[in-house]
Amino acid sequence: MANKPVSAARQPTINAQPRIHQRAGEIQAYGTVSHGLPLELEEPVRLEMTEQLNLLLADTMTLRDLYKKSHWQVAGPTFYQLHLLFDKHYDEQVAIVDEIAERIQLLGGVSLAMAADVAETTRIERPPRGREEVPVQISRLLDAHQTIIGQCRQLSRRASELGDDGTNDMVVSGVLRANELQVWFLSEHLVDVPLVHAEAPSVRKTG
Ligand SMILES: [Fe+2]
Repeated sequence: MANKPVSAARQPTINAQPRIHQRAGEIQAYGTVSHGLPLELEEPVRLEMTEQLNLLLADTMTLRDLYKKSHWQVAGPTFYQLHLLFDKHYDEQVAIVDEIAERIQLLGGVSLAMAADVAETTRIERPPRGREEVPVQISRLLDAHQTIIGQCRQLSRRASELGDDGTNDMVVSGVLRANELQVWFLSEHLVDVPLVHAEAPSVRKTG
């Protein structure tokens, strides 16, 4: 028996042309969380956590980019070691950015992603486009870390209060501790110790 012919109207158009330039409405608005996830976390908790995590994300993305700026623009006798250190910290911040963004998504939220949205959201001071000297570069990075560390402490406590243990764990283990370690590596570069000649005890000042 012959197959029944498909009517012309229902026949799919087969065409090798890619369907480019497409646009459509959003499938989820920023600032909302999806309903009914099997996480045993109520919607208001997920809403508050994703809002706070997006602030942390914006600041972390800004710090990440500040590290790359510093990596490219660093100058002076410590160029080589700082060029490498800044890029190592950049790579670590890239991993943290991904961890925060995916935590927001798994909580049912929408993570910030684009530079313009990040710039509107971050609390970290915008640096100039031009190059700055090493002590200023490091000071800017430390200020950015301080903003993030302060937020981590508040956010982790709030997550714990609300029963969001996963966010608490991620913020403390993944974000806070990595930032604390990077602060140590940076701040030691701002200690003013002699490079070649030790100072005589009579001229040594403390405090
Ligand atoms: Fe590089």
